[in-house]
Amino acid sequence: MEIHVLPDAEAAAKAVAAHIAARVVAGEAHVLGLATGRSPIRIYADLVARVQAGSLSLAGVKSFNLDEYLGLGAADTTSFRSYMEQHLFSRVALAEAHVPDGLARDPQAEALAYERAIAAAGGIDLQLLGIGQNGHIGFNEPGSDLASRTRVVKLTASTLAANAPDFGPGQSVPPEALTMGIGTIMEAREIVLIATGAAKAAALVAALKGPVSPDCPASALQGHAAVHVFADPAAAARLG
Ligand code: GLP
Repeated sequence: MEIHVLPDAEAAAKAVAAHIAARVVAGEAHVLGLATGRSPIRIYADLVARVQAGSLSLAGVKSFNLDEYLGLGAADTTSFRSYMEQHLFSRVALAEAHVPDGLARDPQAEALAYERAIAAAGGIDLQLLGIGQNGHIGFNEPGSDLASRTRVVKLTASTLAANAPDFGPGQSVPPEALTMGIGTIMEAREIVLIATGAAKAAALVAALKGPVSPDCPASALQGHAAVHVFADPAAAARLG
């Protein structure tokens, strides 16, 4: 595991974008696993700028997002599909851009189909991850089986509260989601995790230095051979 501490959140995002761009340009990342949340916004902005400047093309890249709220789709501004359209998909060309379908009539079947689509693409070369304040990755909440696959999950009170600001007044955060499993994420050939801000310090130290346990889903990453962590000083404060 390599831990990179950058001077601030913007520098961390730029370093992640540079890392992803280098892999794509080298022909080492044809299939990207993508994440939502506040942390990746600057990463996508930087990737878009590189494409517009002509130093990067994502035209040959297939992407698979980690997760989606159950019950939300492209027409909902708060869906992860909308987030991805806004920050990346509408701005640059990708060969394929997959997000789990939160409106699927049979979410279990959608989960299986998502796993099959990842496998058909040849597996994920590079998976981008954020980390929840409770140590979640994707929407794999504490208690998730470390071998879990793409499935329907219930969100915890901590995650509902953390994500409430993304929803307007009177709108509630959907209580369930479709997420890649921890086992799915661990099959990516490389993992890049971004963590910024003091609110992530406890989760980051538990993930990287604590016991490997479903209590902290991100701790599973200790068992992966190729993990790069990019953090700002606030998130890295307790790493020692
Ligand atoms: C969300 C997403 C995760 C994300 C995490 C942290 O709930 N499902 O994939 O990594 O929470 O997000 P943020 O970057 O906004 O702190």
